Amino acid sequence: MPGPYKIETTAVHAGRRIDPATGAVVPPIHLSTTFERGADGEYPLSYSYSREDNPNRRALEECLAALEGGKEALAFSSGLAVVTAVVQGLEPGDHILAPDDVYYGLRKVLGEIFAKAGLKTTYVDMTDLYAVQQAARPSTRLVWIETPSNPLMKITDLAAVAAIARKAGAISICDGTFASPILQRPLDLGIDMVTHSTTKYIGGHSDVVGGSLVTRFDNYLFERARKSQKYGGAVPSPFECWLTLRGVDTLPYRMRAHSGNASRVAEFLAAHPAVEAVHYPGLPGHPGHQVAARQMSAFGGMVSFQVRGGRDRAMKVASGVRLFTRATSLGGPHSFIEHRASIEGAMTRTPQNLLRMSIGLENADDLIIDLGQALQG
Ligand SMILES: Cc1ncc(COP(=O)(O)O)c(C=O)c1O
Repeated sequence: MPGPYKIETTAVHAGRRIDPATGAVVPPIHLSTTFERGADGEYPLSYSYSREDNPNRRALEECLAALEGGKEALAFSSGLAVVTAVVQGLEPGDHILAPDDVYYGLRKVLGEIFAKAGLKTTYVDMTDLYAVQQAARPSTRLVWIETPSNPLMKITDLAAVAAIARKAGAISICDGTFASPILQRPLDLGIDMVTHSTTKYIGGHSDVVGGSLVTRFDNYLFERARKSQKYGGAVPSPFECWLTLRGVDTLPYRMRAHSGNASRVAEFLAAHPAVEAVHYPGLPGHPGHQVAARQMSAFGGMVSFQVRGGRDRAMKVASGVRLFTRATSLGGPHSFIEHRASIEGAMTRTPQNLLRMSIGLENADDLIIDLGQALQG
């Protein structure tokens, strides 16, 4: 794609071309698992077998790299398949620095799949730059960041942690799922790689699971992740790639609407007497507000809040909503609410009175009315 273009244009055009066989404007879905060799034994169009590469995955990867301002992208079968692929690239004895409130799936992958791999992990408060600096070791190879974090919406200073990681000789990687590449571009701030659960905002319709890994430059962990994708085989199907790319068309406009709605809901909750605390980086009182305002173009669609009266009251509010759906996941058109500690299980560090919401694309007035009646009930 020529350019440079602005992000809305990139979202619609990157990775797409008019189908040369038919003139179709929307890319066809190529279900063929295998591709014909030329008479010379070579693959004239560079595709050989669809686990290794296929037209729909390549289109999605080109688009994801362009959206992030990265050099190259890999599309995986889920967000956690990216975590698995990156961690597989580490050596026994390597040290990982990760946020103490990291998405619980990462702790599960490290603790339950890689327990025998001889990796060391320190979980640290990534908002405390001194603590991050102190936790780095000579063996630190990977600094994992998640901002905004799930579910407490903590904000990590990307440029500062990227600098600490670089000084430590480690690769920094940001899970930007809650922000999407529209609201935050970690690679522009010096982060080495960025990952998303494309299941969420990028796919955007709660109908496809996937993950992305985008790198700013060639590095060994990206190359090993590529092997894990191609030969390990954690690949999305052509249809899943197609659905995800279709979601990207509207991503910039959806992110604006999610952010606008979430700001209204957060302000409403912050003024409500039944609410103990609201976690939304767009609120001026949020501890990460200033950093978020610097590194994000808007504050996103995720809002968590703590209900006065503890777990039982929180459960009552979640059961009292009519428009919100009680469901996990995020980033789709429907608003979701969930009691996060129940999802995370016995090991959870999430407050028991916390409800997490994915604010959808409905009208904010209707969402506010629904929450109002649930909080009164
Ligand atoms: C921040 C974050 N990262 C990663 C994941 C994992 O993604 P997936 O469910 O696509 O494997 C999730 C899923 O909820 C998430 O919220």
